[in-house]
Amino acid sequence: MKKLNAPLSLILLSILLSACNGKQPAPAMPPTPPTAGYDDPHRPQFHFSPATGWMNDPNGMVFYEGEYHLFYQFYPDSTVWGPMHWAHAVSKDMVRWEHLPVALYPDSLGYIFSGSAVVDWNNTSGFAKDGKPPLVAIYTYHDMAGEKAGRKNYQSQAIAYSNDRGRSWTKYAGNPVIPNTHNLPDIRDPKVIWHEDSKQWVMALAVRDHLQIWGSKDLKTWEHLSDFGKEQGTHKGVWECPDLFPMSVEGTSKWVLLQNINPGGPTGGSGTQYFVGHFDGKNFTLDPDFAPSVRNEKAVWLDHGSDNYAGVTWSDIPKSDGRRLFLGWMSNWNYATVVPTKLWRSAMTLPRSLELKQTPAGYRVFSLPAKELETLRAQTFNLEKTALEGSLDLTDKLGFSPTLSEIELEVELPENASGEFGIEVSNSKNERYRVGYDASKKAFFSDREQAGDASFSKKFRTGIHYAPRFVEGKTLRLQLFLDAASVELFGDNGAVVMTDIFFPQEDFNRLKIFSEGGKVQINKGSFYKLRSIWR
Ligand code: FRU
Repeated sequence: MKKLNAPLSLILLSILLSACNGKQPAPAMPPTPPTAGYDDPHRPQFHFSPATGWMNDPNGMVFYEGEYHLFYQFYPDSTVWGPMHWAHAVSKDMVRWEHLPVALYPDSLGYIFSGSAVVDWNNTSGFAKDGKPPLVAIYTYHDMAGEKAGRKNYQSQAIAYSNDRGRSWTKYAGNPVIPNTHNLPDIRDPKVIWHEDSKQWVMALAVRDHLQIWGSKDLKTWEHLSDFGKEQGTHKGVWECPDLFPMSVEGTSKWVLLQNINPGGPTGGSGTQYFVGHFDGKNFTLDPDFAPSVRNEKAVWLDHGSDNYAGVTWSDIPKSDGRRLFLGWMSNWNYATVVPTKLWRSAMTLPRSLELKQTPAGYRVFSLPAKELETLRAQTFNLEKTALEGSLDLTDKLGFSPTLSEIELEVELPENASGEFGIEVSNSKNERYRVGYDASKKAFFSDREQAGDASFSKKFRTGIHYAPRFVEGKTLRLQLFLDAASVELFGDNGAVVMTDIFFPQEDFNRLKIFSEGGKVQINKGSFYKLRSIWR
């Protein structure tokens, strides 16, 4: 668990103990749109980040009346983790965000840890007002004083509701709705969905090394239904932030469980494993056609980079849209509190649409950048069809810096391909970032080993990141999003994803593509300059 500075923690504790469990104090967020600090070096320009302060997990993601809500773990008074609040932002497209006042403040029951939010369409909770359904947030209380006193039951589950489109929140007087009666020190991050078949709310709750599933008719009274995962998946860290939801594949319905784990992720530290199976209103069981990864690891990972954690999906996306939309925290507990930014710490990933597909490796979750991101494209450069062996510098042809860009490449690999094909961006400080496909390893790679400052943590540079390719074929597709301090690679139409952050001393302003293991045929090369969302 993350630590507070001792003197600060005492001051904050006394503030917390004096706060009441109910109405919220006055907002403490800067006005919208944020003006200061959005030009800082390393400030993500088309990813969500808080104007100031510390941020971790996305919370309470729910769509209601044309707005995507994003709440998130937030500590306004510092750029390291501390007493957790739920901060709040809204968007009409998941791309451009408006900061709103903090939604939930810590109180006498504890810090406000991660959780979810739903629209209670049928007013099962009785919180509706003026005939309009309430938004209900379900979150974990973390009682820091209890933890310090050596108690084990310091985490419990609670709810709050809003009758004004999430603008103000009232904590339920009967909290906690799930007290910690079994003294389980890590029991948190409730993710709730409405399960139509069993006509109940279903909660996925992480408990150290497994998942608990709970059911409720009214969001207030909960029954423990079943457990999953003690024998499945990887257990090299604590299970946190689960998400259980249905997905259709080739006309049939399956269930997917995203299960975040820290440490023990694919590159060390934080990571998101997932499972594909069935849910009958009580138990989640694995599908026989869901096998562990092609590398014979115990886990199948949603993302093979270092920096996509605590990701979950939006609730209440209209049926007419039908997408399963995802957002993660673009950092890693291995170094999140020490990355070299001054005003704020960390950003969210790009919004992604998850799809379930049958592949030679069994059922796999694919991630695709949300189509709304296309509205960021400001300028295009299309490369003519060309054969490439060696390298091709495109800096001058592009006419814009690759620092804020999206790239789509489709290439035919030669028979018996070997060596690396990919993209390199670099700057005048001899810093460079390389990404692509290594045919000899049959894996995508993301190499930030020389991509700038790594002095802040020994755990940042841990070698090139690899993601095994499990889709067969000579045609290779890469889609890349490069922001000031991050890259997201979507390989093979979203079969493989790698998200990595980096901190160059100067923007990457040169770009080349390379093929070092034979001649590749480039069928498509589109390069887009992207707009900032903050200007
Ligand atoms: C995951 C996590 C959650 C917890 C929150 C606290 O990053 O540790 O399990 O609720 O962060 O900020």
